[in-house]
Amino acid sequence: MVKRSYKLLAKRLWWDLKDSTIRKSYKYYLIARIPGFFGIMIREDFWCNKLKRCGKNLIIKEGVTIYDVEQISIGDSVSIGINCVLEGKGKITIGSNVLIGPQTTIFSTNHIFEDNDRPIKTQGLTLKEVIIGNDVWIGSKAFIMPGANIEDSCVISAGSVVGGRRYIKGSILAGNPARVIGHRN
Ligand SMILES: CC(C)(COP(=O)(O)OP(=O)(O)OC[C@H]1O[C@@H](n2cnc3c(N)ncnc32)[C@H](O)[C@@H]1OP(=O)(O)O)[C@@H](O)C(=O)NCCC(=O)NCCS
Repeated sequence: MVKRSYKLLAKRLWWDLKDSTIRKSYKYYLIARIPGFFGIMIREDFWCNKLKRCGKNLIIKEGVTIYDVEQISIGDSVSIGINCVLEGKGKITIGSNVLIGPQTTIFSTNHIFEDNDRPIKTQGLTLKEVIIGNDVWIGSKAFIMPGANIEDSCVISAGSVVGGRRYIKGSILAGNPARVIGHRN
């Protein structure tokens, strides 16, 4: 077993906290992990000040990771489940009364990979806005692709991989790739 002295660990922490990027990571990590209603209230205050638009009664459960928050707009009474990931570089717009189930991931960028002679990581990104309408329910572990436009009242079943296209109002989607398996009413 590795045995490090407290002095060495304290020094390491001190060096970490001197770096503003690492300091930010510590802050985001700790805020994401505060349990209970207290945690929900702290996260609402924290993220609402950073979002492009933030409605009333935002619930962000534990372990949620948010990137490029200033490009994300959220309506009223939205709940984001445990361990969700939202990446907003290409913009994410979420309506009101939306329920996002645990461990769902929403991405708004793709890596460009057209040039075979250059590593993908050097080719940049394409940005594609994700739009989620009002009264949408997204089940647990869904993956929402860049460019998805999920209109009002849709239901996304658990584990669906939702492609970057438009899904008309009231659609019920399931599977990978997600297909329309029905309509509400
Ligand atoms: C969308 C949902 C509510 C539909 O439930 P339901 O009305 O009871 O529908 P059923 O289970 O009868 O499924 C209807 C059809 O869709 C298919 N289907 C449902 N969910 C599916 C999924 N995730 N992937 C693939 N197919 C799916 C079923 O196989 C069934 O097909 P069949 O008619 O050929 O047998 C449910 O599938 C679901 O995903 N719930 C989310 C649960 C969750 O994540 N809870 C977290 C709370 S935030």
